[in-house]
Amino acid sequence: MMAKAKFQRPKGTADLYEDNSYLWQQVEAQARRVFARYGYGEIRTPIFESFDLFARSAGDTSDVVTKEMYDFEDKGDRHMALRPEGTAGVVRAYVENKLFGPEHGQPYKTYYMGPMFRYERPQAGRFRQFHQIGVEAFGSTAPSLDVEVITMVVKYLDSLGLKNLKVALNTLGDAEARAAYRQALIDYLKPYQDQLSADSQTRLEKNPLRVLDSKDPKDQDIVQAAPTIFDYLSDASRAHFEAVQAGLSALNIDYVIDDRMVRGLDYYNDTIFEVMTQDPSLKGAATIAGGGRYAGLVEEFGGPATPGIGFAIGVERLVALLQAEGQADRQAAPVDFYLVQVDDQVANQALVLATALRDMGYVVDLDYSGKSVKAQFKAANKKNAHYVLTLGDQEVQSGQANVKDLRSGSEQPVALAEIAQQMPAVLQQLAAEETAK
Ligand code: HAM
Repeated sequence: MMAKAKFQRPKGTADLYEDNSYLWQQVEAQARRVFARYGYGEIRTPIFESFDLFARSAGDTSDVVTKEMYDFEDKGDRHMALRPEGTAGVVRAYVENKLFGPEHGQPYKTYYMGPMFRYERPQAGRFRQFHQIGVEAFGSTAPSLDVEVITMVVKYLDSLGLKNLKVALNTLGDAEARAAYRQALIDYLKPYQDQLSADSQTRLEKNPLRVLDSKDPKDQDIVQAAPTIFDYLSDASRAHFEAVQAGLSALNIDYVIDDRMVRGLDYYNDTIFEVMTQDPSLKGAATIAGGGRYAGLVEEFGGPATPGIGFAIGVERLVALLQAEGQADRQAAPVDFYLVQVDDQVANQALVLATALRDMGYVVDLDYSGKSVKAQFKAANKKNAHYVLTLGDQEVQSGQANVKDLRSGSEQPVALAEIAQQMPAVLQQLAAEETAK
């Protein structure tokens, strides 16, 4: 006989079930509701794409591309990768399906949710398979679109009951401003080169803006007096950034300007933003969402020059924050009815009854293993069932059973043959008794 094998889930992944998967469903359903109000429809794109798609969009010096890709050769020798983020695939789909056509309505506003993959060192709030709820809007450079996108993520997080959030805002200007700023940063940092952390020394040449983002305290000291992008902005970028701020203020969306903020992916220009929690329990994973504008991606993938803007929320971090802030205590999937069977002679009638109630839209559970009546009541309580219907010989004979409200203890009879017609009135009567108590 072969030895038994024991498997564990891969490092940096999670299994979600029961209360957790229920909470995830709520978080996702609320995103669908809120985004729909703003005119966003869902897009679903493949979980793997050509490696080059990500290399060309995220930037070939970014950590995501150089260190964290789950890439592989498929059986046809194609270089593929599991998606590390959602934007590149959505842009590819926008171009490939010609969603830029006027018949699709512009700006084209869409959202997505699903797993992303980055080979990172697993730690609190950092996983190898994680999930994003993301949004992209194409076809408008209007600052009001930036304002709407930022407002939407804030309103969504607010609607889940989250507090202590901070919106950090910055601009990266246009390509020209960034090139000039990049040189200014190199000139400023060069004299300190030997004192910078090893990571920052490499970044200094390849992507000096990322040095601003270093978590190393010594790097942070050096960076403090570095020039800022604001000195290099074109008039158009400056006006855009001011209009975004004015719009957010008009909507009473709080934000702070953080001129040291950069993003880990290279495709951004002008407005960038992050939503962070100030809750200390999420230390190291405080960034719940991040995003910004990108100008070149649609054209780079073969479409007409079209600007885009979007963000993505890290769902694991969002859920951890909901739990830390006590916003996750909501009851897992509620059970309306538990059917208690007095003996196993009524098993078939119980199933008929359960199915009739389910057809009416109620959530119904029952026992399948011949447990005692007492144990079945215990199970009903454990599942937090609202009502119990007890079914025995006597009920089957008389064609009538009692609906018991476990919250108030009140009972009301119902005719089994008329259950669909009578149940709404029976429940109304029980609710009235519950409020009277
Ligand atoms: P990002 O900043 O790389 O942006 O990721 C967005 C969010 O995903 C982060 O703020 C974080 O909450 C979550 N996240 C990232 N990596 C991990 C991880 N290893 N484990 C857990 N959570 C993680 C993007 O991905 C862009 N595509 C956002 C965007 C859309 N920009 C424009 N449109």
